[in-house]
Amino acid sequence: MSKEIPMETLASLCKRRGFIFQSSELYGGINGFWDYGPLGCELKRNIREAWWKAVVRNREDVVGLDASIIMHPAIWKASGHADGFADPMVDCRVCRKRFRADQLCEEQGLELIKNGSAFVLPEGAQCPACGAKHLTEPRSFNLMFKTFVGPVEDESNAAWLRPETAQAIFAQFNNIVATARQQIPFGVAQMGKSFRNEINPRNYTFRSREFEQMELEYFIRPDEAIELICGRVTTLADHPDLAGEPQESWGWEVWHRYWVEQRLTWYRAIGLPDADLEQYWQVGDELAHYARACVDIEYAFPFGVQELEGIAARSDFDLRQHQTHSGRPMDVFDEALKQAAAKLDDAARDSFTQKVVTEWTARGKSADDAQAFVTMLFAGKYVPHVIEPSAGTDRLALALLCNAYDEETLTDDKGKTDTRTVLRFHPAIAPIKLGVFPLVKNKPELYAKAREIFARLQRRWNCFWDESGAIGRRYRRMDEAGTPWCATIDFQTLEDGTVTLRDRDSMTQVRLSVAELIEKLDNEIG
Ligand code: GAP
Repeated sequence: MSKEIPMETLASLCKRRGFIFQSSELYGGINGFWDYGPLGCELKRNIREAWWKAVVRNREDVVGLDASIIMHPAIWKASGHADGFADPMVDCRVCRKRFRADQLCEEQGLELIKNGSAFVLPEGAQCPACGAKHLTEPRSFNLMFKTFVGPVEDESNAAWLRPETAQAIFAQFNNIVATARQQIPFGVAQMGKSFRNEINPRNYTFRSREFEQMELEYFIRPDEAIELICGRVTTLADHPDLAGEPQESWGWEVWHRYWVEQRLTWYRAIGLPDADLEQYWQVGDELAHYARACVDIEYAFPFGVQELEGIAARSDFDLRQHQTHSGRPMDVFDEALKQAAAKLDDAARDSFTQKVVTEWTARGKSADDAQAFVTMLFAGKYVPHVIEPSAGTDRLALALLCNAYDEETLTDDKGKTDTRTVLRFHPAIAPIKLGVFPLVKNKPELYAKAREIFARLQRRWNCFWDESGAIGRRYRRMDEAGTPWCATIDFQTLEDGTVTLRDRDSMTQVRLSVAELIEKLDNEIG
């Protein structure tokens, strides 16, 4: 169920508290670009850290990559982005505003007509800004930002800012295989900036022109190789235990579902409620021609249920494209496969080959390609297939902010009511983990003790020192920043070393020693 927070209210809190600022605000701003302030950049760091921990550090089968943003333009030719990464765009002939044709139609309950690779506007489409029905026919607009490498601005020096982080993983695949000491199945993860010249950036930071992605390319054996090695391929119909250890016999369908479950588990673990997470499984011609399945993990934003992450089973398309365009082989050698194939007699080989040819031709592929593929398999080689979970860091930051936002009405002993604004972040995500307050600042001994405790805790977590104003006001400031706990150092601290720990959500207070406080935070932050 989507939360009913006006986005202006959230944006105003984000600005007031230093989460998100409009980029270049000093000069009137620049559409589709955002800056993360002191709290926002901690929030994003925590998101990246949590993703890296779940996807890379806590596993033995995923390694990382940190590639350059500008790469050889041939990469975008091979990936299809140079020719096909475009949105249909229309202009209003009256007010001269520009829109994405598919979004404009969707908002008006119409469907954009596909005519081969071109698009046609349906009857009745009108300009969302001025209402005129004088729109141009849709034209393709490539979303990549172009630049020039070196001093000469001609086509031979043209390059693009990457529109996704994924392609570098494919382009560096051979180097990673040669150095990472990993065997298929294994994954390569990368996070970083991506750039898309979106026609209509909108919904606050949701659709931006500069944003961050967290992408994993998880390479698996083709099902045919698994069949040779294991004798059969486990499919979803076998009800595999997706929460258990991955199995050698898992086919692409099981690996794909496994990653959907892994990613949903992670979103829940960082505080997004199950009720606000949805799955949208692409069907028919929504799927790219090479993709076997694609699911969007969506979140119920205040402006509607929208994509957080796409998880696609992309077959061997990407590595094959780079193999064709670079002329360099992208296959791997698999000893287990070589040994399994060596055990087959001629009749078994013929029957396996025939089976693969029949399956491939039924999927519209050529018999020659199937034959060549099987010949490679018998030699223990194949181009790996890939499952791609691809998430947006900024979209997730926005989802976490929307989810955390709460306004609570409090009534005091005298019946007076007051509204408390609080960001209920999961402790692992919260930008500041602990507010540390001296009860008073004019008692040198108490103040020094508080500084000593702060210095000790600050080494472990991002803590915030606040000595100004009444304790109640300091709590409220921390509530708006989403800080899960506040520790107050008072006169009793000087006697027995305990502090008062106040919980953001329940507002209850307990007395703990500093050692107990550290243990509690360690357990809850994770
Ligand atoms: N490599 C696959 C890929 O890039 P995508 O669905 O285009 O797939 C993946 O992008 C994720 O990146 C999206 O689910 C979204 O979270 C994020 N993303 C894409 N475009 C974005 C934009 N303009 N602004 C913010 N995030 C975006």
